[in-house]
Amino acid sequence: MPGDVWAPAPAGPLALAEDQVHVWRASLRPASEVLARLEATLSADERARAARYRFDEHRTAFVAGRGVQRRILSRYTGLAPAELAYREGSHGKLELNGAAAALGIRFNVSNSGDLALYALTRRREIGVDLERLKPMPDGGDIARRFFSAPENEVFATVSEDERDLAFFLCWTRKEAYIKAVGEGLSMPLDCFDVAFAPGEPARILRTRGNPAEAGRWTMLSLDPAPGYVGALAVEGDGWRPVLYDWDATAEVRAGSHSSKSHGAARRDA
Ligand SMILES: CC(C)(COP(=O)(O)OP(=O)(O)OC[C@H]1O[C@@H](n2cnc3c(N)ncnc32)[C@H](O)[C@@H]1OP(=O)(O)O)[C@@H](O)C(=O)NCCC(=O)NCCS
Repeated sequence: MPGDVWAPAPAGPLALAEDQVHVWRASLRPASEVLARLEATLSADERARAARYRFDEHRTAFVAGRGVQRRILSRYTGLAPAELAYREGSHGKLELNGAAAALGIRFNVSNSGDLALYALTRRREIGVDLERLKPMPDGGDIARRFFSAPENEVFATVSEDERDLAFFLCWTRKEAYIKAVGEGLSMPLDCFDVAFAPGEPARILRTRGNPAEAGRWTMLSLDPAPGYVGALAVEGDGWRPVLYDWDATAEVRAGSHSSKSHGAARRDA
């Protein structure tokens, strides 16, 4: 939504009602002491993946991204960040596993440039995508390769000065839907059409092969920061978005207290 307001979240544990979608935005360039605290909560698998990045910049973004993900999920599950366990769907989509799985929390993540978005729901599938805007001189070629024929027809009518924006609006909306379904790129990108002309509300217009599928999802355009566009695809309707800004200093301070109290609770048990 243009002019989205991202506000700090209230302190303490957070509830997620079934008619809400919580979306958090976070910087992937935290101060080094914050990064170290986030890294300390990662699993062995996450550390191993972090170690495989060749460039520091990418490694930092991954560590910060997964560390913040654990902080955020911790607030909804009551588990310490390091205690959270995931399981991976057949195409890589993460779900909560272990003690937190029964809460019905679904989440999805996207990052681009210096920012990440985390979207959470209860008992609804969800996908989110974020892209940093940049000039796309080859946007037409990429559109021909990835967008559907009806989407290409719309794209051809967009004025030159809005083409790059339209490209990323289409891209993020398609990607959000693919991520909500969770099948990754095994799902043909031209088997569905999204609305994306500048100013047009985000929506799945058609799903070929299964026309009823388009009506199973609601989309929302996100305005995460100047120079970025984002999109959400959420199963069902009647939900409302709640937008939070992740405050590194406050969260890590609160997180270190709650990790200690989790530890204390276990020791007392
Ligand atoms: C992997 C994919 C799901 C998204 O990749 P992406 O856009 O490069 O990356 P994003 O930052 O948006 O999302 C990454 C997150 O998605 C999640 N994810 C991974 N596989 C997923 C899947 N099958 N479904 C949903 N989410 C998935 C993970 O949480 C991942 O976070 P991680 O890097 O910490 O593991 C997949 O859709 C892809 O490879 N897309 C390629 C781009 C493309 O061709 N798009 C065409 C649009 S027209």
